[in-house]
Amino acid sequence: MSVRYIESKKTFLLQTKNSTYQMKVSDYGYLLHLYYGERLEDEDLSYLIQLQDRGFSPNPNEAGNDRTFSLDFLPQEFSSDGSCDYRLSSIEVKNGDGSYAFVGKAAKHEIYAGKYSLEGLPSLWAADQDRVDTLEIWLTDPATQLTAVLCYSVFEEKDIITRAVKVINESEETIYLNRIMSMTMDFMDSDYDFIHFDGRHTMEREWSRNPLAYGIQNVGSFRGASSHQHNPFAILCERGASEDDGRCYGFSFVYSGNFMCKVEKDQYDQTRIVMGIHPKHFSYQLKPGERFTAPEVVLAYSGKGLTHLTHLYHRVYRENLCKSPYVRKERPILINSWEAAYFDFDEAKLLEIAKEAVDMGVELFVLDDGWFGNRNDDNAALGDWDVNTAKLPRGLGGLSEDIHEMGLNFGLWIEPEMVSENSELYRKHPDWCLQMPRRQPSRGRYQLVLDLSREDVRDYIVTSINSVLDSARIEYVKWDMNRFITDAWSAIVEKEKQGEIYHRYILGLYDIMNRIILTHPEILFCGCSGGGGRFDPGMLYYQPQIWCSDNTDAVCRLKIQYGTTFVYPVSAMESHVSVCPNHQTGRTVPLETRGITAMDGILGYELDSTKLTEEEKRICRQQVEAYKRNYPLIVYGDYYRLTNPYTFSEYVAWEHVSRNRDEALISLVLTEKEANDAQRYVKAKGLNPQMQYQVDGMEGSLSGQALMSAGLPVPGKLMQYEAVQYHIKAL
Ligand code: DGJ
Repeated sequence: MSVRYIESKKTFLLQTKNSTYQMKVSDYGYLLHLYYGERLEDEDLSYLIQLQDRGFSPNPNEAGNDRTFSLDFLPQEFSSDGSCDYRLSSIEVKNGDGSYAFVGKAAKHEIYAGKYSLEGLPSLWAADQDRVDTLEIWLTDPATQLTAVLCYSVFEEKDIITRAVKVINESEETIYLNRIMSMTMDFMDSDYDFIHFDGRHTMEREWSRNPLAYGIQNVGSFRGASSHQHNPFAILCERGASEDDGRCYGFSFVYSGNFMCKVEKDQYDQTRIVMGIHPKHFSYQLKPGERFTAPEVVLAYSGKGLTHLTHLYHRVYRENLCKSPYVRKERPILINSWEAAYFDFDEAKLLEIAKEAVDMGVELFVLDDGWFGNRNDDNAALGDWDVNTAKLPRGLGGLSEDIHEMGLNFGLWIEPEMVSENSELYRKHPDWCLQMPRRQPSRGRYQLVLDLSREDVRDYIVTSINSVLDSARIEYVKWDMNRFITDAWSAIVEKEKQGEIYHRYILGLYDIMNRIILTHPEILFCGCSGGGGRFDPGMLYYQPQIWCSDNTDAVCRLKIQYGTTFVYPVSAMESHVSVCPNHQTGRTVPLETRGITAMDGILGYELDSTKLTEEEKRICRQQVEAYKRNYPLIVYGDYYRLTNPYTFSEYVAWEHVSRNRDEALISLVLTEKEANDAQRYVKAKGLNPQMQYQVDGMEGSLSGQALMSAGLPVPGKLMQYEAVQYHIKAL
């Protein structure tokens, strides 16, 4: 088994193929963290715990006169609160007597084969071929009988460990859970960089790397969604770690709502990182016997740098996350109507766009926003999911049939979680949106957020959206969400439970996705929140792909996609070719470059195909053919970031390498051109040094070693924003 308890040492040992995780029940029943890192065999690492009398670090009462035992410096699996440990806490509760402490002692544990499950929440699952074992450790506070069950599942062959926490109130009193971190990890050193992915609408997942400093660094969201501003993924890596070398730890949160990731460098140069639901405005009531399940964190360790860490996440997120059967199917190449027409279309115009798209090799036509109710701009009709017959007199059915007759599949945009004030739904049920008593709710894009914590609201959404999906032949759905939550207050929840609304919203969202998405396995769902405002593993559990960003400028996309690839696989990133000058930046970039950049994801088009010249359509056709030819390599191959656009400005390059290393595709965009500039080279990665390869367009062959050590010349004739691809095949 990959999980063991060594009774004589009181240690728990979790083993993956290349990593080891060890913890220990200490003298007074506290669960201490010993090690996470490079795989070790059956070694007992208890010696790492060095006790010392440390000034101003209090000692638990049961330690008696022993002044060397303090939770203020010992590494812990789940830190207590209100007793001896002043560092970041894993939990904060308000007990029935008004006190704020939780002091968990190891009470029992269970080890079993298979993966734990988390009620109402998405999480990784074990596929048939995966060997997964689980450890659950009960930490009970003897004073209050509140228990935190720490859950660990080990994906041995995939080098992945998942963690989650369940809190059970076994006392006779009602308690309030005010903070619960799904993962706490202590390191006995602090020479690390903290890498996180930040941004804003239209510029998501920007890479940021900073050394740890004394005190706390913090990323997170309390916008009601994982957000454009920070992604629920972070890395701690050795200061010198690069793509190819060094110890790196990844922490990825499988949750789509408020989250927090904090890292603290303490007074003794130790590190604690915590990740979980953001505690702001969070207070969960637990009556006697009730329990709370905190979402999952997916951990990966790489001793071989950041690229290997990426490969671990890409594999497990491709194979063990998404529930849709579409995750394993080849994704269709689509054309989306949004940047082509926005709200201004009728049936004839859509059919014209579709007709020209057939010529480009496109396989799916997606009708974006504007097809329902009185939706002629973005200030009306959300919630009224009836077709707008002024625009589409023959309904979705008629349009879809015509599209199918052209040989295309048909897709549709929806935004089920929202309501416009100017809608039939709002006029009928004003109390169905999140709003606070005595205040008018804040608007975002003129819309309000439906109260998904309510069952009647969820039932309405499920019924109305399912009837849309059943009203026509629909093979693809883009599920959008265009504002963040404010006014998190529900009309039907008692006041003591209003601190649960943000989380109950997300549970409600997962419930409606279970009832809409998982009941339509034949439909490919694409997530979206104004682009990548909810690009997280929670959404990827339901939707195999997510619209990466509302920014379709190919040059901006280089950075957005760079950041996204650290944890999310290519199969998750929907990426479109749009027109120039670009609608978001005004920049003009060659069509070939836009194609090459969009091929670093699930390729699509988002433009008015009727305005393309014959030559442009020919280029698009070529792109589609090239993409389809290289699809297995791009989507299932290993991903290599060859440059970092934040530290190297001349060109951006990335590479896909087949799993057996017999084929590779390097893509390169020249981002900074000077006159009469130096000759540049790009070095491949991941090839077999001994194999001979043929590079498309070059005479003779080269060894993998030469391609990786000497590299390939970047054509000197490339002008600013032009791009090139090198297709490399083993002889
Ligand atoms: C935001 C999305 O990201 C866009 O692609 C588009 O679908 C609009 N919403 C439609 O309102």
